[in-house]
Formats: sequence, C-alpha cells, structure tokens
Amino acid sequence: MSPLSITRTLPADATSAALRADVAQGLSRTPKQLPPKWFYDARGSELFEEITQLPEYYPTRAEREILLTRAPGIAAATDARTLIELGSGSSDKTRHLIGALTGLHTYVPVDVSESALAAAGKALLIEHPDLTVQALVADFQRGLTLPEAPGPRLLAFLGGTVGNLLPDERAAFLRSVHDLLSPGDALLLGTDLVKDPATLVAAYDDAQGVTAEFNKNVLHVINRELGGDFDPADFDHVALWNAEREWIEMRLRARKELTVKIPGVDLVVSFAEGEEVRTEVSAKFREDGVRDELAAAGLELSKWWTDGAGRFALSLSVRP
Ligand code: AVJ
Repeated sequence: MSPLSITRTLPADATSAALRADVAQGLSRTPKQLPPKWFYDARGSELFEEITQLPEYYPTRAEREILLTRAPGIAAATDARTLIELGSGSSDKTRHLIGALTGLHTYVPVDVSESALAAAGKALLIEHPDLTVQALVADFQRGLTLPEAPGPRLLAFLGGTVGNLLPDERAAFLRSVHDLLSPGDALLLGTDLVKDPATLVAAYDDAQGVTAEFNKNVLHVINRELGGDFDPADFDHVALWNAEREWIEMRLRARKELTVKIPGVDLVVSFAEGEEVRTEVSAKFREDGVRDELAAAGLELSKWWTDGAGRFALSLSVRP
C-alpha cells in the first residue's frame, strides 16, 4: 500500500450547495454577511499566501517563530504517534513539528482542497518516507470521521483560523474536537492575541491593497460560481476593530446605490449607498479567554507559548 492515501468525505456538489445557501441567506438578511471560507478559491488562496508575506501581517511569522522554538517542547509534552491537522493547506509550518515528533507514525492532513493535500502529501513523503499520510478532503465544521491511527494523537489547528468562527460556532467546534480526541490526546491551537488596534487594523488593511483584493475576491467567486454581476470596483474594503467583541471585521461597502443579479440563487440584491456586507470576523484572544473556552469544551489548557513580541499564542490542551 502506498504511504499516501487521500479520502474524500465531501460529496462533489457539497461545496456549491453550501455556497448557494450561504449567499442566498447572507445577502437576504440585514445586515448582509458572507462567511469567510468563500475567499479561498485558487486566486484567493494565492492572495492569502501574499498576505502572509506583507510587512503588516505579523501572525504567520509570529506563529512560525513559536513553532520553530517550541517544536521540541510540543514533542516532549505530547509524544504524539498521530498528528491530525485541520486546514493543513500547504502543510508548510507543520514541517517543523513533524521533524520534531520523533515517534510520529501517521499524519492526517485535513483540508477542503484536494489539490493542496496531494501536493503537500507528496512533498512531505520526500522528507519523511516512513511516514503514513492519510489525507482527508473534508470540511471540519461539518463533522469529521478520522481514520484508525495509533495514539497518543495530537490535533493541530494553526494560523489563528479558529478566530474566523463566531462564538457559538467556536464553542461547537471545540466541543467536536473534544469528542474526536481520546483521553490523553492533545489539541495544539494557534490564536492571534489582542493588541493595540492600530497594529491590528494595519494587518487587515495593508498599504499595498492585497487584503482589499482578497476581500473583494468573494465577489469574483459569486460571479463565477453563481453567474453574479458584481462589479468589485463598486465596493470599498473596510477593516475595523470591534473593541467590544475584540475582533477584526472585514466588510465590503457599496460606493453607491446599486443592484446585483445572482441568477444561480435566483436573487436580485439591492444595496443602499454605504451599505456594508460583513465578510469576515477575525477574533483576537487573551490567555484567560482561551482557557475558559477550552474548559467549556472539556479540554484542559496545559501550555501557553507566545512569540517574543507577545503577538500570537500557541496553546496545548489535553482531553483529561
Ligand atoms: C486565515 C485566519 C489566518 O483571520 O487573519 C488574513 C485570514 N483575513 N487577512 C486571519 C485573513 C484577512 C486569516 N486567517
């Protein structure tokens, strides 16, 4: 048997059905909103890669710094034989971890992109030919069934993507992680931290306008997939700090009164001048909040590591 297997758990049409439902509901309600997962077609994923290299966008570099310095500590604390990674994408940062986990037997990357999984799996096997890679094409918000693999298991969710879930979605997600783990298994979670609003807003409204383009990409996705006639130039990119909820919001603001036809969902959407669509929430965290949310899901925070500048945290928690 080849050490690389890829299992699809998403029906081929699941993505377009979910997009149609999200667009139909999100653009019919007040205020309008769209879930951030629709940014990530091939172009959107490319733009996100560009974002991670912007001088203003610190989270990726901060998290890589923590992974580089703490990989041996993570390995010692978990002794993991199986590593599961949600939203693995290119598995780029995970390399440091895989290299440090000396007893590792199986790596289970989980992503909605089959092409990303195939490329990452092949690249990893060149460096680690003895590793079993069991990739899963799946949407982790819709419930996961993991392959049989030896424990102890470590489930990693990096990049601060947990912050893109709304509070009730986050609670449900952490509970489902708890249910996936066996006693003694661990969760490694990346969370961006609360800091001064100017730094945060700059990270989501960069000088080169890459994030603005990334934000508007969701309109291109709707145009292509659902036959919409959005003109992205009719919208301004907005990034703001919501101090009460402690999250960044990205929005698209109509520059004038306009209507958009979206035949794929049989919808005509009207925008008033200045009307906004919320396209992303990116929550920022504090140690106490993360500990409380984990505890509410039945998980116990055991390690908290930040980068030298205290901008980003990796936490390790266990299912007791
Ligand atoms: C995918 C969660 C890492 O919320 O910071 C980057 C996505 N949005 N710039 C984030 C994003 C705008 C990003 N993560």
